[in-house]
Amino acid sequence: MCWWCGRPRRPANSKCQRITPRHRRAPISSLDNRVAPDRSAVDDILAGLSPDRRDLFELRVRRWLPDLRAALALLYPAESAAALQRRLIEAAARAYRDRPADLHRLDQARTLAPDWFQEPAMLGYAAYCDRLGGDLRGVRAQLPYLSELGVTYLHLMPVLRARDGDSDGGYAVADYRDVEPALGTVQDLRDLTAAMRAAGISLVLDLVLNHVAREHHWARAARDGDQTYRGYFHIHPDRAEPDEYEKTLPEVFPDFAPGSFSWDPELSGWVWTTFNSFQWDVNWANPDVFFEYADIVLWLANVGVEVIRLDAIAFLWKRKGTNCQNQPEVHAIAQALRAVLRIAAPATLLKAEAIVAPRELVQYFGRGRSHGKASDLAYHNTLMAQVWSMLATRDTALAVRALGALPTAPTTTSWICYLRCHDDIGWAIDDADAGAVGLGGFAHRSFLSDYYLGEFPGSTARGLVFQPNPATGDRRVSGTTAALAGLEAAEAAGDPAAIDIALRRILLAHAIIMGWGGIPVIWMGDELGMPNDPNWQADPAHAADNRWAHRGPMSSELQAQRFVDGAVAHRLFHGLAQMARARSALPQLHAATPAAVAPGPNPGILMVLRDHPQGELVELFNVTEQWQPWPVRSHYPGAVPAIDALGGNPVQIGDDGCLWLEPYQALWLVAPC
Ligand code: GLC
Ligand code: GLC
Repeated sequence: MCWWCGRPRRPANSKCQRITPRHRRAPISSLDNRVAPDRSAVDDILAGLSPDRRDLFELRVRRWLPDLRAALALLYPAESAAALQRRLIEAAARAYRDRPADLHRLDQARTLAPDWFQEPAMLGYAAYCDRLGGDLRGVRAQLPYLSELGVTYLHLMPVLRARDGDSDGGYAVADYRDVEPALGTVQDLRDLTAAMRAAGISLVLDLVLNHVAREHHWARAARDGDQTYRGYFHIHPDRAEPDEYEKTLPEVFPDFAPGSFSWDPELSGWVWTTFNSFQWDVNWANPDVFFEYADIVLWLANVGVEVIRLDAIAFLWKRKGTNCQNQPEVHAIAQALRAVLRIAAPATLLKAEAIVAPRELVQYFGRGRSHGKASDLAYHNTLMAQVWSMLATRDTALAVRALGALPTAPTTTSWICYLRCHDDIGWAIDDADAGAVGLGGFAHRSFLSDYYLGEFPGSTARGLVFQPNPATGDRRVSGTTAALAGLEAAEAAGDPAAIDIALRRILLAHAIIMGWGGIPVIWMGDELGMPNDPNWQADPAHAADNRWAHRGPMSSELQAQRFVDGAVAHRLFHGLAQMARARSALPQLHAATPAAVAPGPNPGILMVLRDHPQGELVELFNVTEQWQPWPVRSHYPGAVPAIDALGGNPVQIGDDGCLWLEPYQALWLVAPC
């Protein structure tokens, strides 16, 4: 296929007959009409713009149409794909026309620096809006605090209007074009994004695109019997089909929302509900659903959202006989949405929330011919699980094996590296990886649950078990970083030595995620050592869901502690801010430079290498509470002498030829300039 005109090449391997200077300058309308949007409709939409602006739109369409077309062809029959493509280009034209001037300028800047989000200066932070600042205006007041930490990317949990009562933390959206009244208005959201742009912080918002609230107007219309809107959902009159699907479907909330279908009397049917019964899965096989979401994406981009988190993307496409996760179509959906965004609002990125098995992960950046064309960002949940595993076992063998086995991400994309988020932690540990280092996959996952629930002898972790599944033996874990890493218990015991060790452990864990490249994201409160919220059950809507234990409110007293010398919050906050500063000065930590792990002579130390034209970065992480030696003479791939870029000091080699790492010490070693 010719990438320029989208036509098959004839004959095979010959040059495309249509690539001529004349062809390149041809107006859109002269191209094959399977590829070309309806020129006159687009012209009408853009009529009020200057010739330069109109021309820029046309250039972008030419650049991204092949990606859009290829993705839609995978999703829908030819005729509906072509019709949808036309509607999407028209929607993109409207969004482009209406895009505010400052965002248009941001598009230009980002087009000139398309790797902006891969820069080592990126630092993420994630929080619930109400828990960070009360409401959107309150979040604005927190921006100086975030800048002090070095934050350049802020993920606010859902702020769009949710259903009343339990809304799964806002993940049951009743209106995508309105803001939750308790948090403010759409204007407040626009004001916040403008203030954030001025502060150099990109806003990340969720797009919940697997389901809507039962109260969303599509669901209401479906309940009223409107056939068009019934077609937006997966509805079955009896249990025959649901039973077939459920033979191979895992349960996400086996505890409080068992099964994947809910009977709704008003629908007179079983509706697909992967999560809670009030969250109705939408039917992405319906092109109208695609169009609705693409239009919402464009709207969010024009409000100033810079990264759109594709919530639960793994679940979007259903296929009988499978677990209905990670189907190839979900990657095509991301590719098509991305192409639409690149045309209308290229400053905006997509982030896949796919908390899936290690082998399924990298596909979210695009697979095969779509390599690098799906989401720009994805969560590195393998790294997350491996960090906790190393801290529990004081051993790096499994992490080296699992991280080393992952295909490298496309160089134009970036991982989100994190220790925890607002959700529970699931042990994404592959049986084959575990087997390769002499562990049983199930037994190791079970050990990790025991360990972080504080049930394993010697563990001081204070996690809570989330959604235990007796059928599979699966036990996920809730808890803040301080609770899981033993800080909460050490503080409760008033044990200074244990507090010191826990602080080192937390800083080490952050040094690993900050040293991986990509965007490290700190979860609200972890920078201050926030424990689990003892009152998490007080709100009856949350009482059954212990993820709320690690979603406690920010406390201004705790924030003030960062100024108190020697306080836990002081050590953590300044330790992390210092790490972020060191990171931003290291070109090796640009996300395009892959991180490599290799087995070393000491299993208590993880070595991560980043090879870069400006010199190698060698990272060493002691994952134990003992001093550990690293034999430099025999096993150091970088230049000696070296400087530790984290602490800013030259490293001292012992008389025994070893570099000795303190308990939980992290070293980022570079050659001296
Ligand atoms: C996502 C969210 C999670 C939510 C689920 C359903 O995975 O992170 O909090 O429960 O989607 O929307
Ligand atoms: C999302 C995540 C999954 C998590 C669930 C509930 O679907 O992918 O890991 O367990 O939400 O929190």
